[in-house]
Formats: sequence, structure tokens, C-alpha cells
Amino acid sequence: MNALAILVAAGRGERMGMDRPKAFLALGGEPLLLRAARAFEASPRVIGLVAVVPAGEVGHASALLEPLRKGRAVGPGGDRRQDSVREGMKQAPPGFDGVVLVHDAARPFAEPALIEAVIDAASAHGAALPLLPVVDTIKRVEGNRVAETIDRRPLFGAQTPQGFRFDLLSRAYDRAREDAVTLTDEAMAVERIGGMVAAVAGSPRNQKITTPDDL
Ligand code: CTP
Ligand code: MG
Repeated sequence: MNALAILVAAGRGERMGMDRPKAFLALGGEPLLLRAARAFEASPRVIGLVAVVPAGEVGHASALLEPLRKGRAVGPGGDRRQDSVREGMKQAPPGFDGVVLVHDAARPFAEPALIEAVIDAASAHGAALPLLPVVDTIKRVEGNRVAETIDRRPLFGAQTPQGFRFDLLSRAYDRAREDAVTLTDEAMAVERIGGMVAAVAGSPRNQKITTPDDL
């Protein structure tokens, strides 16, 4: 299946605490949003890109993505991540029935091989995401007291791009809206309606830039 990439860049970057939204901060001389977009530009099955950005940054973001050759749309996001993804899905070509890839603009190191693996798994199973095993020892804490150590073996950290057949993600999001649920990632919408979400090996390089230390 072909894929459409939705780059979500409409957050406020509160933990970064800079004067600009996070996606517009430069890393090695290039804004995070453009860096993140380049991997999708290089992935043969990605037919186009959608960027959702803060409402006041649509013009700025369009100019910034000018170096790309693939078709793209830029529009405003929403208050919550799931609202931003919804806005992005509205920009899909009419009748699009391929895979939608939702990717954090704050992850500038996704590689085309990972993108292809997610497209394959989402085409086959309906939904897929990259997961990385948790490496730290995990404690559950109550107040300032350690309550217990959790077995980390079944625990994984979720990365993006997360891939879905377009109709499946639409249905899952409709249900989340009906149920007034706030989602922390896209796969969660599919999990809660009982859909199969396939696990793809994540990459330790595919880090999210969250705080100034990460930069
Ligand atoms: N995002 C979005 N729309 C929102 C919230 C988040 O498009 N309403 C995007 C962010 O722009 C980011 C990605 O989702 O690229 C991952 O979110 P996160 O790392 O939490 O970024 P921010 O929400 O911007 O940062 P913070 O939570 O520190 O404010
Ligand atoms: Mg956030």
C-alpha cells in the first residue's frame, strides 16, 4: 500500500521552554520539522506529506518545507494531539485508502527502513508502531516512597511513525470522540476498539526531542 505522512508539529513545546514552537528549532542548522520530513521524502511508498502546525505558523512552515519535492499540505493543528491528527487527516487526498503514517515532527532521526517496515506491517495488519524495549529498572512510586519494582520485560516505549489503514484510524478516532477519551498516541485509539496493532522493532536513534538536554 502507498502511504501518506502526517507530521504533527502543532504542540506548544512547553518542556522545551524556548521562544518558538519546538518543530521550528534548528538541529545541525536545519529545523526539526524539515529534518523529520526528509525521511518521508526519501521513502518510495510515501506519496505525500501533511504538516500540522500552530495556527500562526502555517505560512512559515510552508516556506520551510519548500526544499521538498513531494506533494504536501500544511494546515493548523488542534489543542490535543488527537485533534491535530484529525486535522491532518482532513488534508488527505479525496478517497485515499492507503496507510496513514503519523509522525512526531520532534523525531528528526526516523530512517526510511523503519518507515518502510511500519508501512508493511500496517498494510498487513491494519495498524503498526515501532516499539523499543525499556532498558531502565522501573519503580512505582507513591509520594516520595518506592512502592515496588516493576518487571520491565513486557514493557516497551512507543515511537512514531505509527501506521494505520486510513479507514481504521478514522473509525477508531470516531469512537474515541464518542467516548470522550483523551489519547496519548494513535495506536491507543485502535487498541481500545479491539483492533490488532502490530509491533515493529523501534530504533534507539529515533529519539524524540523533548527538553533542551535532548537538543
Ligand atoms: N503535537 C501536536 N498537537 C498537539 C500536541 C502535540 O501536533 N496538540 C505534536 C508536537 O508538535 C510534537 C509531537 O506531537 O511534534 C509530540 O509531542 P510532544 O513531544 O509532547 O511536543 P509538545 O506537545 O510540543 O511539547 P510539550 O508536551 O513539552 O508541550
Ligand atoms: Mg505534548
